[in-house]
Amino acid sequence: MALFTWHPHYTVGIPLVDAEHAHLLALADGWHAAVAQGAPEDSIRAGLASLIDYTRAHFAHEEDLMIRCRYPDFRKHKAEHDRLTEKALQFQRAFRPERIARNAEMFRFLKDWLTLHMANSDRCMAVYLGGACPDLKTPLAGAGEPAV
Ligand SMILES: [Fe+2]
Ligand SMILES: [Fe+2]
Repeated sequence: MALFTWHPHYTVGIPLVDAEHAHLLALADGWHAAVAQGAPEDSIRAGLASLIDYTRAHFAHEEDLMIRCRYPDFRKHKAEHDRLTEKALQFQRAFRPERIARNAEMFRFLKDWLTLHMANSDRCMAVYLGGACPDLKTPLAGAGEPAV
């Protein structure tokens, strides 16, 4: 069963951010499915590393946009990114594919955190960015393609 699914409710109105969010959720869902299906441990670990790398790149993109457009809540938003990154790295260090209950708890935590962050903090950021830097609302060339 899909755990990390895109929902239009997550749309924030900045095409770059929306494309990256959709790709992030797709990556997370693919990885969750690989774990659930008992994929080889090496590929599960590689998938987790890719997911964390993509998340960090996405956070860095948002942080660049916030700096460029002088977002007043930059520090608070970045602190949320830093907390999730730390949590994801802790999970990566402790990850054991066979610890199903612990993994399920962590998947739930990551999903809740990601979707809440997108629906609240990223939405607030996007409202500001769309006003301060209207060029960011321009649809992407090759729409739907992830930017990373
Ligand atoms: Fe985001
Ligand atoms: Fe964010």
